[in-house]
Amino acid sequence: MKKILSVVGARPNFIKIAPLAKAFKKYRKEVKHLLCHTGQHFDKRMSEIFFDELKMPEPDFNLGVGGGSHAEQTARIMLELEKVLHQEKPHLVIVPGDVNSTLAAALVASKMGIPVAHVEAGLRSFDKTMPEEINRIVTDVVSDFLFVTEHSGMHNLRDEGVDDSKIFFVGNTMIDSLDANWDAVESNTVTDRMGLTKGKYIVATFHRPTNVDDRENLAEIMDTMGKLAGERKLVFPVHPRTRKNIRAFGLEKKIPGSLILTEPLGYLEFLSLMRYAELVITDSGGIQEETTYMGVQCITVRKNTERPVTIDVGTNHLVGVSMEKVEKTAMDILDGITKPGRIPELWDGKAAKRIAEIIMQHKE
Ligand code: UD1
Ligand code: UDP
Repeated sequence: MKKILSVVGARPNFIKIAPLAKAFKKYRKEVKHLLCHTGQHFDKRMSEIFFDELKMPEPDFNLGVGGGSHAEQTARIMLELEKVLHQEKPHLVIVPGDVNSTLAAALVASKMGIPVAHVEAGLRSFDKTMPEEINRIVTDVVSDFLFVTEHSGMHNLRDEGVDDSKIFFVGNTMIDSLDANWDAVESNTVTDRMGLTKGKYIVATFHRPTNVDDRENLAEIMDTMGKLAGERKLVFPVHPRTRKNIRAFGLEKKIPGSLILTEPLGYLEFLSLMRYAELVITDSGGIQEETTYMGVQCITVRKNTERPVTIDVGTNHLVGVSMEKVEKTAMDILDGITKPGRIPELWDGKAAKRIAEIIMQHKE
């Protein structure tokens, strides 16, 4: 019997692994799939709610590492995970995405001689000031299976000299989760609960350190969101990093009453909120992809994106970090100047099935 251990830690990881956990059930006679939660994200609204809504099994292991500096967090995950891997001796470790949990798990497993599969391999922002870019590069270097979501990922890996035999263009498991929950997303009543008119409100999220760890940048963002809230109702579910910084920088007093700030929302409510929004403004990776799939206009407040397909074929507008540009693009979109989009290749809800099949058919 094959033993596979998937390691998750942060909100987007749960969403990317849920369809894989389900796909492995088909092979339950041949494979035991274990789940390890590093505890990187730990609030109920950043973790447990996703396990419930995505109907994921309880993690078999929880390392309970919590927050800390990059070195502290990564090191704690490595130390605790090593014990689990010694005990369980899996044949394969699966890591999704680009967070510190991804990097830590890939390093520990590969050094123990355990093959590593990276789900969402090959994405590159070419900006090493982003912690995620370092996590992606290092994870890909030590991985044996590189499961890619979009063409750019294959080109990047080939340019870096990765052997073609390790690269698999399979589609996007984050979109698998969205696709599997589409009916629940459409019928969700979050807009009623919040008193919103469908197609006539904006959703915003910010959590990138470059945007929210700097007082001036965060103040400008809150100011601009406040201005846009004068045009349309604007809902802003606040990530824990952003919440901490709003407090630390004393920005609460600057927030206009028209801005609807909420706790992080559950998966289904959040997707439904995006589904019926006129515009989404974000610096999130996953949200660029989900809005592309849903055909919702998205403004990405970053200088670059590791997900170029969302710009090339999707409804994503990469505008940089100038707030004048954000405001101008938002006003254009509210005036009806929108970008048409289509769904990228293989974002069809079947990526996890392809991944499971490739892993199960692989002969050591
Ligand atoms: C992490 C990822 C980022 C990803 C994001 C998804 C890294 C380097 N960053 O960023 O790539 O886009 O997750 O949301 O891995 N906190 C809480 N409660 C929680 C979770 C976090 O209070 O449930 C606090 C932490 O204690 C810390 C801060 O929020 O002070 C940041 O958490 P951390 O996991 O280090 O990074 P994120 O900003 O969440
Ligand atoms: N998300 C959510 N509730 C929220 C904000 C985001 O469920 O309040 C979901 C969102 O739909 C996407 C994922 O969380 O699936 C993205 O996570 P995040 O933006 O934190 O991380 P990133 O993708 O930037 O790494």
